[in-house]
Amino acid sequence: MVKATVLGASGGIGQPLSLLLKLNEAITELALYDIVNSPGVAADLSHINTPARVTGYLPADEGLKCALTNAHLVVIPAGVPRKPGMTRDDLFKINAGIVRDLATGIAQHAPNAYILIISNPVNSTVPIVVEVLKKHCVFDPKKIFGVTTLDVVRASTFSSEIIGSDPRDVRVPVVGGHSGVTIVPLLSQISPQKGFSEEQIEKLTHRIQYGGDEVVKAKDGAGSATLSMAQAGARFASSILDATVKGKPGIIEPSYVCLDADKEHCSQLKDAIGGLEYFSYNVELGPDGIHKIHGLGEVSPYERKLLESAIPELKQNIEKGVSFINSKL
Ligand code: NAD
Ligand code: LMR
Repeated sequence: MVKATVLGASGGIGQPLSLLLKLNEAITELALYDIVNSPGVAADLSHINTPARVTGYLPADEGLKCALTNAHLVVIPAGVPRKPGMTRDDLFKINAGIVRDLATGIAQHAPNAYILIISNPVNSTVPIVVEVLKKHCVFDPKKIFGVTTLDVVRASTFSSEIIGSDPRDVRVPVVGGHSGVTIVPLLSQISPQKGFSEEQIEKLTHRIQYGGDEVVKAKDGAGSATLSMAQAGARFASSILDATVKGKPGIIEPSYVCLDADKEHCSQLKDAIGGLEYFSYNVELGPDGIHKIHGLGEVSPYERKLLESAIPELKQNIEKGVSFINSKL
């Protein structure tokens, strides 16, 4: 029995993500929670003839508890999206409290679940979840993931447009965090190898760092990426299930994680990034979640400069999340 729970299931990401999870045959129960409309979304999806039984919950009648109890995997896309002119950090005011309260529910009702955090600003919401779990003494760093898959999906797509190849065959590691300068594509490590010109590297890097803004601008006040994010979130969820339920070895997905998850490599990895506690790296998944965090590999001087710009902003974002919980709970 594998239960997956979506918190924020009625939203722009929540609905298509829930649809894609309903199509995942490893899931036997899909619980949808939101402050509005979740019973309707659940009724609609429940007619699809795949194994997952779908249930919808609102906050009344202990809805959060019912949605979370026995969950193997919890995905969180709850919270407000950006409008043109906003940064992801501008969302902190509203989303930090939403994520804190949902994390409290997880700590109480699904302390062993794998937690996938989509809500922005990811650089801060992941530390918020970690601090809440620590307060409840149920913190396991191997099970908490900030979903940065969309950055990697974009890097494949945008690079393949220049190369002229199938985007599914192109892999670019993207490290750091999930906002502007903290998104650091390592184009020197693109696979298959491709010798881009300096100008191409600069343009591609900028497009990957600000891909989210492209969508926010095009949607013109109606939100940010939802459909591409749903696909990226479902891909990540599917990889977690492949590793933790089906026991498939060697799955590597990038994700923004707490570096305590891999103590063996931790000190070395932290040294390379100015001592930060959180960073997005290529993460190898195993039966218990994070099996190994892969380091940066060889980076070019240009990428080293990008990393130097990312580190101070990430540090601020992380501290903001940590102090939000420690000064409020
Ligand atoms: P949306 O407004 O369409 O949906 C958000 C949903 O959250 C709504 O249905 C709302 O009712 C629900 N919600 C609000 N408060 C809640 C609570 N306390 N409990 C449960 N549900 C609650 O927004 P969206 O476009 O789906 O985006 C959601 C979040 O995902 C935003 O913060 C956005 O910035 C972020 N996002 C992240 C990535 C990423 O790569 N990690 C990509 C795209 C969007
Ligand atoms: C994205 O990268 O598309 C998301 O983080 C949403 C945003 O605000 O850009």
